[in-house]
Amino acid sequence: VRDIGQLVTNRPELGEGATGVLRHVDLVVDNGTVAWIGAAGTSPAADVMLDAAGRCVIPGFVDSHTHLVFAGDRVEEFTARMAGTRYQAGGIQSTVAATRGTPSEVLMATAAKLAREAEAQGTTTLETKSGYGLTVTDESRCLDVAGTVAEEVTFLGAHVVAPEYRGRVDDYVALVKGPMLQECAPKARWCDVFCEEGAFGPEAAREILQAARGRGLGLRVHANQLSFGQGVQLAVEMGAASADHCTHLDAADVDALAGGSTVATLLPGAEFSTRSPYPEARRLLDSGATVALATDCNPGTSYTTSMPFVIALAVREMHMTPDEALYAATAGGARALRRDELGALAPGSRGDLVVLDAPTAAHLAYRPGVDLVATVVRAGRVLFAGGARPA
Ligand code: NIG
Ligand code: FE
Repeated sequence: VRDIGQLVTNRPELGEGATGVLRHVDLVVDNGTVAWIGAAGTSPAADVMLDAAGRCVIPGFVDSHTHLVFAGDRVEEFTARMAGTRYQAGGIQSTVAATRGTPSEVLMATAAKLAREAEAQGTTTLETKSGYGLTVTDESRCLDVAGTVAEEVTFLGAHVVAPEYRGRVDDYVALVKGPMLQECAPKARWCDVFCEEGAFGPEAAREILQAARGRGLGLRVHANQLSFGQGVQLAVEMGAASADHCTHLDAADVDALAGGSTVATLLPGAEFSTRSPYPEARRLLDSGATVALATDCNPGTSYTTSMPFVIALAVREMHMTPDEALYAATAGGARALRRDELGALAPGSRGDLVVLDAPTAAHLAYRPGVDLVATVVRAGRVLFAGGARPA
């Protein structure tokens, strides 16, 4: 990639500021990996040359939290919410019913379309989950679908209690920990639990996470989204890679995140679409916690695949600086997935990058709602090249 005006490396030791910006450089990806960065005009010969023409290049976005495997939509629920109805976890059940009744090929087509949509907006790594099946068979096939569109796959059998287990939470927890996990663990790298009133309490969540760990899965938790609770503490205590949402945090939660290895993954698309107060990103950042940003793309609370939109929300609504937001959407997501070869552009990083139609990365928040993604590259291959824009 030649003539990069500003290269965001996400390695402060390599360049200026918190995101390690280098100016006027070329970058070479060899065999999928960043091999060389040096002064513009001095790069070795390459088979394929991409001209950044003085524009900004950033690491590809790592969207570490999505729910892309589902059927139908919930536009009526959204519309009612915008007229004043409150969001409740129970809305998930209508997507469960639709998903169970839809063949896997159709689920796959929907998920693939969303994945392509994400790529066109600069996402080079996706995590996605099951969680709208809630039977052994349906969770299993949802994970099969997830594996066709995402690099990182998460088992979320404990999204809510399946409708046929209504009033029999313990029986459903036993199903998840037993036969469902047995069938699903080989198809996922991660296990997630929605720890919330109306979903699973901390004891049930702990049991499920313990069983998942016993089967070799890494852990993630939907924590403290709709109310204060034990989810964040549980995630940190169990060494989960990520506690996601973190919308209602008390001082002990912030301390726990700052002191542990669990990333705080913030999903402001969900607060936007449920018209809820945003998480207190500043408190987390100022305490030293690692913060990631992700879309949470799902039909109930955040039907967006756009990491640039999430960055704009984080900057405007959560008081993150543009640098902090970009870092959280790239290196933060990589940390939340424990994939340290992602989320940066330094020798040894995977060659995942976005050429922006802008001179700086701050333009992502400065020009909200405007598509600034010109070219997207994953592991050295062009995934997406946008149409011609007015010069
Ligand atoms: O991350 N919090 C739980 N799960 C989703 C919402 C799912 C839905 O409403 O369908 C979330 O916001
Ligand atoms: Fe979610």
